[in-house]
Amino acid sequence: MKDLRIAVVPGDGIGVEVIREACAAIEAVAAASGKRITLTPFDWSADAYLKTGVSLPADGLKMLAENFDAILLGAMGDPRVPDNRHAADILLGMRFGLDLYVNHRPVKLLDARLCPLKGVEPKDVDFVVFRENTEGLYVMMGGNFKKGTPDEVATDIDLNTRKGVERIIRHAFEYARATGRKKVLMSDKSNVLIHAHDLWQRVFKEVKAGFPEITASHMYVDNLSLQLVRDPRQFEVIVTSNMFGDIVTDIAAGLQGGLGMAASGNIHPGKISLFEPVHGSSPPIAGKNIANPIGAIATAALMLAHLGWKEEAARIDAAVLEAVRAGQTTVDIGGTLGTREAAAAIVERLKPRS
Ligand code: NAD
Ligand code: IPM
Ligand code: MN
Repeated sequence: MKDLRIAVVPGDGIGVEVIREACAAIEAVAAASGKRITLTPFDWSADAYLKTGVSLPADGLKMLAENFDAILLGAMGDPRVPDNRHAADILLGMRFGLDLYVNHRPVKLLDARLCPLKGVEPKDVDFVVFRENTEGLYVMMGGNFKKGTPDEVATDIDLNTRKGVERIIRHAFEYARATGRKKVLMSDKSNVLIHAHDLWQRVFKEVKAGFPEITASHMYVDNLSLQLVRDPRQFEVIVTSNMFGDIVTDIAAGLQGGLGMAASGNIHPGKISLFEPVHGSSPPIAGKNIANPIGAIATAALMLAHLGWKEEAARIDAAVLEAVRAGQTTVDIGGTLGTREAAAAIVERLKPRS
C-alpha cells in the first residue's frame, strides 16, 4: 500500500492542542504497523491571518489537491477576528472549493457513564449523521439594505440545488446499504420551507425507491431534536441540510459525552477530503491543557479508515475505548487528566507491546 500524505492544519485555540495529540496517535499507530505516513503542517490560523493578512493562500486548494491524500484540521475561530473571516475563508473555503459535499458525523457512545440520558447504553447510541456540506444557508448569499438604520433589512439565502440535495441523500442510502444499516431518516422543515425543503421531500422519495431493502422515514427537524434526546435508539442513518446538520450534531455530541468526543469528515468520495473534530476552538479553555483530545483522535481514525488503513483505525478506536473505560480521560468526561496526559494514555496503548 502506498505511503499516505496528510496536510495538517491545527488552526486556532484548542485545535492546536488536540491536533498535536491526534498526530501523535497517527505516528504511533503507523510505527507499530510499519507503514509510512507523512504529516505536513500548515499554519493557516487567526495568528497567521492577523500577521500577514492571508487566510487561505491563493494556490492553497490546488496545492492540497495535488500533493495530499487528506487534510486534518483542528478548529478555526479566534475572538481577535470577530467576523471569523479567516475561518470562513479556510474552513468553508475548503468545504466549498474542494466540493466536500458529505459531512460525515458518526455518533457513538463509548461508555454509558458519558451519556446524560438515563438507562442508555453504548448499543443504544450508534448512528451516523450525513449533513449536506456545500450549500443551504452556508453559501453566504444575501445582503443588507439600509444597513445601520432603523429600517435595515438583512437576508441570508437558503440555497438548495437538485444536484446538491440528491447527492447527499444518495450517499446516505449508499452508506446504509454498504454498512448493513437498515434505516435512513431524512430531516427537514418542509412544513414551512415550502420551496427548498419540498425539493428535499421530492428527491428523498425518488432516491429511496432505489433502496427497497432500507426503511426510509422522515422527521421535521424540531421533532428530531426532541427524539434524539428522548430515545436515540431510533436512529441508524440521518440525512439533513447544512444548518440543521450543524445543530443536530452538537446535540448528538451531547449524547456521546460532549463536543470533546465527536469526530467528523468532510468528504468528496474519491477525492481529497478534510477531517476535523466537531468542536470549535473553545477560546476560554485554550492553552490550558484542558481540552479533550478524543474527538480529534477519533477523527484521525475516521480519516485513516477512509484512506484504507482500516486496521490502524480500529486500533486507535480500541485504544480510545480502553482509555475511556479505564477513566484515563480529561475532566469534561469525568476524568482528572490534562489533554497531554489523556492523549498519552491512548498513545501508550498504540505502541507495540514487547
Ligand atoms: P466550541 O465547540 O469551541 O465550544 C463549545 C463548548 O464545548 C464549550 O463549553 C467548550 O469548552 C466545550 N468543548 C468544545 N470542545 C471541547 C473539547 N475538546 N474538550 C472539552 N470541552 C470542549 O464552540 P463555540 O464556543 O461555539 O465556538 C468557539 C469558536 O470556535 C467560534 O469562533 C466558532 O466559530 C468556532 N468553531 C469552529 C469550528 C471548526 O473549526 N470546525 C467548529 C465549531 C465552532
Ligand atoms: C462545524 C462548525 C462550522 C459550521 C463553523 C465553524 C463554520 O460549527 O463544523 O460544525 O457551522 O459548519
Ligand atoms: Mn458546528
